[in-house]
Amino acid sequence: MSTYCARIEKPKDLKPMSKKDSRMWGGRFNEPTDEFVQAFTASVTFDRRLAHADIEGSRAHAMMLKRIGVLSSDELTAIKYGLQQIREEIDNGKFAWSVALEDVHMNVEARLTELIGDAGKKLHTGRSRNDQVATDIRLYLRDQIETCMQGIRAFQNGLLDLAEREAHTIMPGFTHLQVAQPVSFGHHMLAWFEMLDRDHGRLEDCARRMNQMPLGSAALAGTSYELDREYTAELLGFDMPSRNSIDAVSDRDFVIEFCAAAAICMTHLSRMAEELVLWSSAQFDFIRLPDRYCTGSSIMPQKKNPDVAELVRGKAGRVSGNLVSLLMLMKGQPLAYNKDNQEDKEPMFDSLDTLIGSLRAFADMVPALEVNRDRMYQAAQKGYATATDLADYLVQKGVAFRDAHEVVGSAVAFAIEKGKDLGALTLKQLQRFDKRIEADVFDVLSLEGSLNARNITGGTAPEQVMFQINAGRERIKG
Ligand code: ARG
Repeated sequence: MSTYCARIEKPKDLKPMSKKDSRMWGGRFNEPTDEFVQAFTASVTFDRRLAHADIEGSRAHAMMLKRIGVLSSDELTAIKYGLQQIREEIDNGKFAWSVALEDVHMNVEARLTELIGDAGKKLHTGRSRNDQVATDIRLYLRDQIETCMQGIRAFQNGLLDLAEREAHTIMPGFTHLQVAQPVSFGHHMLAWFEMLDRDHGRLEDCARRMNQMPLGSAALAGTSYELDREYTAELLGFDMPSRNSIDAVSDRDFVIEFCAAAAICMTHLSRMAEELVLWSSAQFDFIRLPDRYCTGSSIMPQKKNPDVAELVRGKAGRVSGNLVSLLMLMKGQPLAYNKDNQEDKEPMFDSLDTLIGSLRAFADMVPALEVNRDRMYQAAQKGYATATDLADYLVQKGVAFRDAHEVVGSAVAFAIEKGKDLGALTLKQLQRFDKRIEADVFDVLSLEGSLNARNITGGTAPEQVMFQINAGRERIKG
């Protein structure tokens, strides 16, 4: 259920109030807050990003207060009207944010009272900023995680298209960055696809787990008002109200969980970035990145640098740092709420922005890369990539695998000495290593033969790759 509906007209008998003391807790203090302390403790410079969530939460809270008889119909209309005005002011950049009002919550509430008078003062009934902020972050993050997940899906779709285009393209597969066995370039792209699929799953999990509503927990112990928490939760699209008020206002494990999922996803993107940088170098020359995603050098006219990939690799470090910041933020805190928690927002915002931006860049750049098929093929030919195939061939002729391994090792040493690839040796030369080698050996020594032989679930044979592309398309549909 959404709390947003038709536009509210200005109620007739509103009595706006002037702003007096900006502090909302001035009662027990004898001197004003030090100006430096005010700025030091304020969060409004960054938590204003939660404004829409804060307004949505307040609106639902007010609707519930009316339902249980704390607010009259007129008061609710005035609050809805005021919140709508505030939303517009914020969207139009006309809202006068005040550091003296500390955070987004008090800025919105103060403006509400200023706009609509007494009804505004009742909004905070049965609520504390502690359950308010814990709710706002959940609403905000839930929404942003959706954007991350869409970004992942867009990139995955692009990878499937690229994999389909290049399912039959042969490249050297590497272990230890040494040529290992030939693989389909499409298969390699599907490896990235799978990594992203798990990232998507982690975000989905984390969004589901965080979808419980803290409102009604108040400062930490719950509240004496008989709030209808189920109703507010339903209005805000939460699965249920939180079950423990102390936990609900104090833990930020859901932010940590998001930052962990973001760090893992960025780590994946960083590995891809590293491969893109390597492959686009003159030494590899496997791919060409689109010009619009590269930059030149101010001194060396020939240069085309893979800056976007390098930046994503660099940013992965920052996002991992954000995760560590949050873990450290949490680890020493006694229950329940502590002001430390205000520090949860900047790392979260930063991880969100970085992840969303990096996914967007890759979703556009990677599917547009040009593949140098000849270079990849030659590189696979040069690296004795079919040595395992020769061993497997001997096993089929009755040789034990360990013995076959030894035989092929000697054959490779011989080929290196001759400066030739295994497939370029004559049958006679090959038979020196084992008599059982026959003319049909050349089928398995070809790159195509090697690829096609791996026609097993998850293997690199183009037939399997095409199967996985189709299965992948089905999986990420809708
Ligand atoms: N700005 C605060 C935060 O981000 C809001 C909660 C303040 N609560 C309090 N008891 N001081 O955590």
